[in-house]
Amino acid sequence: MKVQPATPGAKRLLYGGDYNPEQWLHAPDILQEDLRLMKLAHINVVTVGVFAWASLEPQQDHFTFDWLDRVLDGLEKNGQKVILATPSGAKPNWLALKYPEVRRCTADGTREPQQGRHNHCMTSPVYRSRVALINAKLAERYARHPALILWHISNEFGGYCYCPLCMAAFRQWLEARYQSVENMNQAFWSKFWSHAFGSFDEVTVIDKSIHGLELAWKRFMTEQVMSFIEVEKAPLKKFTPHLPVTTNFMGLYDAYDYPQMAQTLDVVSWDSYPHWHDGACEWRTACQTAFTHDIYRCMKPDRAWLLMESTPSNTNWAPISRPKRPGVLRLSGLQAIAHGSDSVLYFQFRKSRGSYEKFHGAVVDHVGHEHTRVFKEAAALGAELGELGVVLGGGTSSQVALLYDWPNAWAIAQAAGPRNMDKDYAATCLAHYEPFWLSGIAVDVIESTRDFSGYKLMVAPMLYMLRPGVAERMQAFVAAGGTLVVTYMSGIADENDLCFLGGWPGPLKDLLGIWVQEQDILGDHQKQSVVPVVGNPLALPAVSQARQYCDVVELQGAEALALYGADFYAGKPAVTRRRTGKGTAYYVASRNDDAFTLALYSHLIKDLALPRAIPGELPPGVTAQRRSAESGEFIFVMNFNEVAVEVPLATAQYRNVLTNRRVKGALPLAGFDAAVLQAV
Ligand code: GAL
Repeated sequence: MKVQPATPGAKRLLYGGDYNPEQWLHAPDILQEDLRLMKLAHINVVTVGVFAWASLEPQQDHFTFDWLDRVLDGLEKNGQKVILATPSGAKPNWLALKYPEVRRCTADGTREPQQGRHNHCMTSPVYRSRVALINAKLAERYARHPALILWHISNEFGGYCYCPLCMAAFRQWLEARYQSVENMNQAFWSKFWSHAFGSFDEVTVIDKSIHGLELAWKRFMTEQVMSFIEVEKAPLKKFTPHLPVTTNFMGLYDAYDYPQMAQTLDVVSWDSYPHWHDGACEWRTACQTAFTHDIYRCMKPDRAWLLMESTPSNTNWAPISRPKRPGVLRLSGLQAIAHGSDSVLYFQFRKSRGSYEKFHGAVVDHVGHEHTRVFKEAAALGAELGELGVVLGGGTSSQVALLYDWPNAWAIAQAAGPRNMDKDYAATCLAHYEPFWLSGIAVDVIESTRDFSGYKLMVAPMLYMLRPGVAERMQAFVAAGGTLVVTYMSGIADENDLCFLGGWPGPLKDLLGIWVQEQDILGDHQKQSVVPVVGNPLALPAVSQARQYCDVVELQGAEALALYGADFYAGKPAVTRRRTGKGTAYYVASRNDDAFTLALYSHLIKDLALPRAIPGELPPGVTAQRRSAESGEFIFVMNFNEVAVEVPLATAQYRNVLTNRRVKGALPLAGFDAAVLQAV
């Protein structure tokens, strides 16, 4: 699959990270030393200017760009490109104090004091115009600077403001969307508890019992952030139409609908901070990271994404954060490249001396020299990535799609019942992703609004909310020969979170050939058993355990492949299959153990002949991901175990691109080791 590089004309993978020279302007010797250290670490790009507003405009309309001129020129001469950030992620004191409207209000209307960061009002005309002005100054000044390759808009947009300006904009948004108060009341089902609105002016967002309203608020806030980004973009695009823009996302953060927000950006990027070594299984941490990488890879499938931040060592904000063990900096960097990133970037290059992040991992520690384990590992990875430019322009082609929807996550989270603990939407998606990851099979993690054609298998875990048209497109997918797996907690509500009438799983009932009559919700220590029907085609394990969610299913055209073993619904279907058109639709009625999920997908992998990056089984905790570029196919084989493994390679012969050695028969990998193979 041909994929455009994240930054135009890129010849090298980007390697570097956040750099805050404004914190060191009093120490020119340190800034000079930074240039030497960057070269030594093979760093070819740094992100400058995030949170630098107070240094760029210390007083209103008094701009001080001379230091940035020097920094950019110095970097350019030293061989580093620059990702230039707009400074809106943190507001300077003069602005926050002179114009209170730029500070957010909490839900009860209280104006926040000036503090922290990422807390400006997205609606404030003053903030918007000040941001537009400073962005214009930056863009005009550096439009032709040879170091500049990408705009980094603000930083990690997040949170909500409930000030009068935001509330007025929300009410206008509601009016435009619903046209009349009656329509809005209907969509919000607000006669419930007598909350019907008499006019748009009555709307507040304090009341969490009106689920349609909560969804509307999140959709509005998504659009408000997008329109704020448009304000930021306008001067950048005016002076530098040739440069792409991005902003950094935060994994599965869900205050806004990220895939929708991505539409305002040229390039998608995200900040990845897995909790390595915290006692959980290391490869599961890796699998979770891969899942999120795949979400970002698929948000803009025709353009490479960027790993915008990661820590070279530890973070400082997790309850505990252990330094990355030897090898993990390299392994996690290569993992991002394997999943389609064009970069490995860190937060941060040099550790700040004071304030909140003085203990956050950095390439250069307070000691100030290169003789640290972290620096050496970072430099070694930089050298290796220098050899990997060949993967640029390369993408992943996948025959498996797994659906993950932000509005679905919102709706599941806000629902009171049928289960109020361990709802685990993301974790469930991950459980259904894991068997593919362990088999080295690429998975596109996409929204339900995306095109389904071209996939052989589509997995829809807990798709509670069916947005308009999704059921029809699933129907067409199966009719055309696709295999669909849907689980419990699917097809329950529409995009306003109004439950479908006529039985669950709503518009998917016919396609799946079932009706979910009721749901059993199990307590922590309660289990149900799932017993395969004799001769069932899925080769399920003898008996597996279900927990937490068990749908009581009636067959309406489907056949049962496994039955419940206990309770009043013993003998009722736990897994069903309906063959229809040229395809097949499965329903998995309960939350099952890993052995069940592995068996289910192992069967489908075989049955559908889904291609593995490397033929044959991989050792547990090892994955292989393929990135196809013009210069060939590159297979990243990664061992997320602390201990060494041998990866069987069947009869194929490969060259390890990183060592330029031939590999045959088996690939030995040390603990936390990786290789990049190309078939010869
Ligand atoms: C990110 C943020 C950075 C830095 C980093 C620390 O979320 O964008 O500015 O704070 O976390 O882990």
